[in-house]
Amino acid sequence: MFSKLSGLVALACAAFTTSAPTKRVADSLGWAKYWFAFGDSYTSRGFNVSGTLPAPGNPFGNPAYPGATGVGANWLDFDTTVYNRTLILTYDYAAAGATINTTLVAPTLATRDFIQQVDEFEAGAAQRPTSAPWTSFGALFSVWFGINDINNSYEEGGDRETFSDVLLDEYFAQVERLQRAQAFASSHWGVRQFVWDSNSAFNVVLDNPTKYGFVDATSYGQTGDFWANDFHPSSNAHNIWAQDVAALLNNTIWF
Ligand SMILES: *[C@@H]1O[C@H](CO)[C@@H](O)[C@H](O)[C@H]1NC(C)=O
Ligand SMILES: *[C@@H]1O[C@H](CO)[C@@H](O)[C@H](O)[C@H]1NC(C)=O
Ligand SMILES: *[C@@H]1O[C@H](CO)[C@@H](O)[C@H](O)[C@H]1NC(C)=O
Ligand SMILES: *[C@@H]1O[C@H](CO)[C@@H](O)[C@H](O)[C@H]1NC(C)=O
Ligand SMILES: *[C@@H]1O[C@H](CO)[C@@H](O)[C@H](O)[C@H]1NC(C)=O
Repeated sequence: MFSKLSGLVALACAAFTTSAPTKRVADSLGWAKYWFAFGDSYTSRGFNVSGTLPAPGNPFGNPAYPGATGVGANWLDFDTTVYNRTLILTYDYAAAGATINTTLVAPTLATRDFIQQVDEFEAGAAQRPTSAPWTSFGALFSVWFGINDINNSYEEGGDRETFSDVLLDEYFAQVERLQRAQAFASSHWGVRQFVWDSNSAFNVVLDNPTKYGFVDATSYGQTGDFWANDFHPSSNAHNIWAQDVAALLNNTIWF
């Protein structure tokens, strides 16, 4: 478990935000802040873009809170509804089992990789339909991948570090696509980037689990365990990640 998690280091997550001034749309959807999230089961809550869309009073659209996370409320649930300082409408494109590029690392179940998630965003909300009149001033993008890329490939031969660089090139190619989706992104002027180091965050807690209210670093499935199962942190751990991210983004328009 520890060696798999330490692999997250090579694929440290990145989140970026924009803050270019733009005209505001004077209805509640237009005043809302938007969050477009990409990732795997650590972020997914089973959102279907063809279903009910996020709106005031229902910030995730579908499914109902906390969503199909498998572990209860996840970090995105907490950050959108508990640690938010404003209304945030969250489009969660993350999909359980996702890797960055399925050709590079095959998933263990049918899913949408990072590329397909960005495809889905580009075909929908990126077009700024009336259902999502976001502006780059109020848009937060987050990206968290790595656990499946590492888990599903670390037993293969060859130079793993070189392969991690290949994965990261793919990763940042998709981040570039997200940046291009913004109207004011002909240059990166106005874009603020934040990095939350998930590997360090996991290790801080796992090195001292009782300090954070967990029974130990390895048990799973029971109340008080850090792990919900043998692959996923519990909702209480997600709550810590959510507070970390909210602290990182403290004093922005979102938190
Ligand atoms: C998403 O919702 C649409 C419309 O309700 C439905 O046809 C489709 O099967 C759903 N997709 C998934 C993966 O559940
Ligand atoms: C945080 O989000 C929830 C759910 O959308 C909303 O009810 C609440 O008003 C928001 N908090 C603030 C301070 O705007
Ligand atoms: C995914 O990886 C494969 C293998 O390296 C590559 O040929 C393909 O171009 C990648 N897809 C995208 C959209 O970058
Ligand atoms: C992790 O990788 C192993 C080996 O490829 C695979 O058998 C297992 O299903 C993977 N676990 C998950 C949760 O995807
Ligand atoms: C956010 O910043 C304020 C000062 O502006 C500080 O009082 C507060 O403790 C910070 N919150 C977090 C979670 O870091």
